[in-house]
Amino acid sequence: MSAAKRVGILISGRGSNMVSLLEAMRAGEVPGEAALVVSDRPDAPGLAKAASFGVATAVVPRREYRGRPREEHDRAVHERLEAAGVEIVCLAGYMRILSPWFVERWQGRMINIHPALLPSFPGLHGQRQALEHGARIAGCTVHFVDAEVDHGPIIAQAAVPVLPGDTEETLAARILEQEHRIYPLALRLLCQGRLTIEGRRVLVRDEQIDLPRSLVVPDPSS
Ligand code: GRF
Repeated sequence: MSAAKRVGILISGRGSNMVSLLEAMRAGEVPGEAALVVSDRPDAPGLAKAASFGVATAVVPRREYRGRPREEHDRAVHERLEAAGVEIVCLAGYMRILSPWFVERWQGRMINIHPALLPSFPGLHGQRQALEHGARIAGCTVHFVDAEVDHGPIIAQAAVPVLPGDTEETLAARILEQEHRIYPLALRLLCQGRLTIEGRRVLVRDEQIDLPRSLVVPDPSS
């Protein structure tokens, strides 16, 4: 077996996806080791959670870079990642748009999770957008990061029904449960070296296919 990949995780908030990745690495389900968690917000609740896993943390406060080019903040983050020997970057609720400079440095080695079935509903509040649009099926996406927001080649997706009476909160909770499944899955495949990007498509080496053929909403037995 090849050596565990050194993984860096960027957060801005509560860090529940980060926790799902840390748990999967700790359990040996993902051949990666958490090298560093970086937050752009000193008060991110995820920082204490990372520390409770014994993972090194760093804060690069966005406030200190206010009014300066975006790239300066990204360079400071990049330095921390390099110093920690990070090979793969996971964005986990990192609420900053990245500079082309940073994206280029990590292209093919940086992934993100988004709470919608891309390319539908990119940007903020993907769950609310799906609900307001009247979508019957919602979900989440893990994708490689490219220069456009929520846009790069798609690694994994999970779909959930939008149910009558859903609020943004109930739908977000249903989606979040799936986020915590597909983010570790995507990171595992990446750490195992099983992903190849061909244009917009991501090929998964040795993919096992034993899937339900469809999710239909409303329930056809209605
Ligand atoms: C998640 O919904 C994720 O899809 C989005 O931001 C949220 C982060 O939540 N990118 P958490 O900090 O991982 O709990």
